[in-house]
Amino acid sequence: MQILSTKLELTQQVAACKRQGKTIGLVPTMGALHEGHASLVKKAVAENDVVFVSVFVNPTQFNNKEDLAKYPRNLERDAQLLESIGAHFVFAPTPEEMYTAEEMNSTFVYDFEGLDKVMEGKMRPGHFNGVVQVVSRLFYLVQPDRAYFGEKDYQQLAIIHQMVERSALKDTFGDLKIIGCPIVRQADGLAMSSRNERLSESEKKLATNIYRILKSSVESAKNASVREIEQQVTDAINAIEGLEVEYYEIVDKTTLLPAKDFSNAIGCVTVYCGPVRLIDNIMY
Ligand code: PAF
Repeated sequence: MQILSTKLELTQQVAACKRQGKTIGLVPTMGALHEGHASLVKKAVAENDVVFVSVFVNPTQFNNKEDLAKYPRNLERDAQLLESIGAHFVFAPTPEEMYTAEEMNSTFVYDFEGLDKVMEGKMRPGHFNGVVQVVSRLFYLVQPDRAYFGEKDYQQLAIIHQMVERSALKDTFGDLKIIGCPIVRQADGLAMSSRNERLSESEKKLATNIYRILKSSVESAKNASVREIEQQVTDAINAIEGLEVEYYEIVDKTTLLPAKDFSNAIGCVTVYCGPVRLIDNIMY
């Protein structure tokens, strides 16, 4: 496995793979890798000849400077994990290598057909603009056949599908396939997340209630309306000291608009566990 830190090194390796007719899988990450990321990389290794993993804490998708500063970083550990599961190249640029000063402060606004106006988009203005800025740059540099994203960030996945399949940019991505992969959970149900590293042991225990409550709401949904379940889940999580719901919305899986019933619905939650903002979701 090779670690590449410049766009030039990256595009040279991509060109060599393309010349040899190899298929390319890309797994974009912000590092602090865990088993959730490992599942994406393993799937990419199984389905492509060559796998590139990017490890880049993208400053343009953070609207909170403190969150950016505190985001866990450990390239050495990440590289060891990636090598052990068969990734071929790690692309780990600096922000200055990735963006010009102008791009770093870009105010260009992408059109997401409203997918960015709800939930995470409402709470973190500009976040998805930054995500699409970096992801489209990575797609342009790596020209992958397949790109892998976790379903934990469900809204992000919906927006990337929109960008590649329906947006004005879609022709620039060729036949690229976006592959969504299921959430990986600890044995106690907590969704794997780089942010879990910031939880104390007692907060980790508290956080397991999030999935427990989401899961039990699937059963309750058989006898209640969408809005009742939203309220029940919110109240049940808020009743636990140390947890505070920012939003719980049951939305249509494709449009992300409020669901009218449970037929194509996903419930998306953001919860503060102490100072750490956790997200999770459940399919109905
Ligand atoms: O999901 C993430 O880790 C990031 O949003 C991504 C897709 C790597 C873009 O920085």
